[in-house]
Amino acid sequence: MHRKLDILAPKGYVVLSDRRGPAIPSAEWESLDYMDWKSGGDTNFAPLASATGEMDCRGFWDHGKPDKDGVWTSNGKIAPSLVGYVRGIGGNFGRVRVIKLNPSDEATALRNLHLDDNNRLNPDGDGWVVRSWLELDNTPGQSVFILREEKDDPSTETRIPLHPGMQMVIDTERLWHVVWHPGPRPRYALITSWESDDIIDRWMTRELADVPAQGSRAAMAGGRKVAATARKR
Ligand SMILES: [Fe+2]
Repeated sequence: MHRKLDILAPKGYVVLSDRRGPAIPSAEWESLDYMDWKSGGDTNFAPLASATGEMDCRGFWDHGKPDKDGVWTSNGKIAPSLVGYVRGIGGNFGRVRVIKLNPSDEATALRNLHLDDNNRLNPDGDGWVVRSWLELDNTPGQSVFILREEKDDPSTETRIPLHPGMQMVIDTERLWHVVWHPGPRPRYALITSWESDDIIDRWMTRELADVPAQGSRAAMAGGRKVAATARKR
């Protein structure tokens, strides 16, 4: 039995407040070294932390370790703000990567719904590994995270419109997930594996505290479509 956080128990995901602080220059994610690695569509990944510090997108289990205690790669020097963001959260991170997702249509995205393998080799009693997202560049209001409790059951689906600066945490070993990104430019996001522990619990609680009650959030943001919308069909 792994430790899981109460904050994720109801839905398996939480939308946090937008990241605060100075804007991260787009050069940080556009200048990274990307590897051809397909996951959730037509994707490339830039590892910022890997199992060994090498440029490696594989699961940490290939190196005999669970998805934590990540080691910074050479990409870390190119993206000090992204590294600072992860360090600032302060928890035990595993894979840290920027995803570059090329545009697709909705049907293609849905075919790419998948579960992640976050907890292989994670010892019983340790914290369940979940993932955070920091959206860097997308098509605001049109790029959408699609989450399902059951892969082939749209009635279990939630759609979360994305915008740059958005932060989320998702138990991606529990929820089927994919991003549908219509383009035309690629979508970039920072994805980090985290061990569930007190640090991550406090970070999520702190970041959540700034989000007005969902439902009123869109109105408070002047009509900007930022609220997570549960779409039960
Ligand atoms: Fe995934």
